[in-house]
Amino acid sequence: MTPAYNDAVQTWNERFSGEDYLFGREPNEYLRAQASRLPPGGRALCIADGEGRNSVWLARQGLQVVAFDVAQAGIAKARKLAAEAGVSVEYHLASCDEWRWEADAYDVIAAIFIQFADPEMRARLFANITKALKPGGLLILQGYTPKQLEYKTGGPSALSHLYTADMLRDAFASLRIVELTEYEAELNEGERHTGRSALVGLVAVKD
Ligand SMILES: C[S@@+](CC[C@H](N)C(=O)[O-])C[C@H]1O[C@@H](n2cnc3c(N)ncnc32)[C@H](O)[C@@H]1O
Repeated sequence: MTPAYNDAVQTWNERFSGEDYLFGREPNEYLRAQASRLPPGGRALCIADGEGRNSVWLARQGLQVVAFDVAQAGIAKARKLAAEAGVSVEYHLASCDEWRWEADAYDVIAAIFIQFADPEMRARLFANITKALKPGGLLILQGYTPKQLEYKTGGPSALSHLYTADMLRDAFASLRIVELTEYEAELNEGERHTGRSALVGLVAVKD
């Protein structure tokens, strides 16, 4: 593992070491807004799931959920959240480069605020997401746009990690885009994602 990777693991474990849920216990609002598009059952993958708010919510929608993250401290809190919600989620400790990406494996993939990836890692990650969706599978992705650097209400500080709608359209050109929207909203998702935010949301299907 590279020093940068070890730093990221240490940083996120420290951030998740408190009692509070850093991004809250409720799911990401953009993900929740896609509830009516979810299949009634099937397999879902939550990438870089943190403390479990999105995986637990997807499991509560009736999906069989697998999730991974690099931070053991996040996974421990995710397990607790799942137990409290009375749902079962399969959690794994892995980075997006270590994860064993199966082809045509998931009915739903949730990629919510995974902007830790630099452009090279992001290219590998987005290609793996496309590969791992089943035919008919749904990708739900949320990130910040470059305008977020003015708001400073969450997300990475490096411009190269942020998304534009055009970038996502190119990156997921092999998928059918159902919705791709740049918008601004007041987020209230735990202490790290609070306030006016410049966002992009993508829903796409692998035909
Ligand atoms: C901004 S948080 C978002 C967490 C979660 N998706 C949510 O919306 O609540 C970013 C997450 O990425 C994880 N992470 C950082 N680098 C990673 C990597 N290379 N592979 C997988 N997860 C990573 C962190 O541990 C953290 O949980």
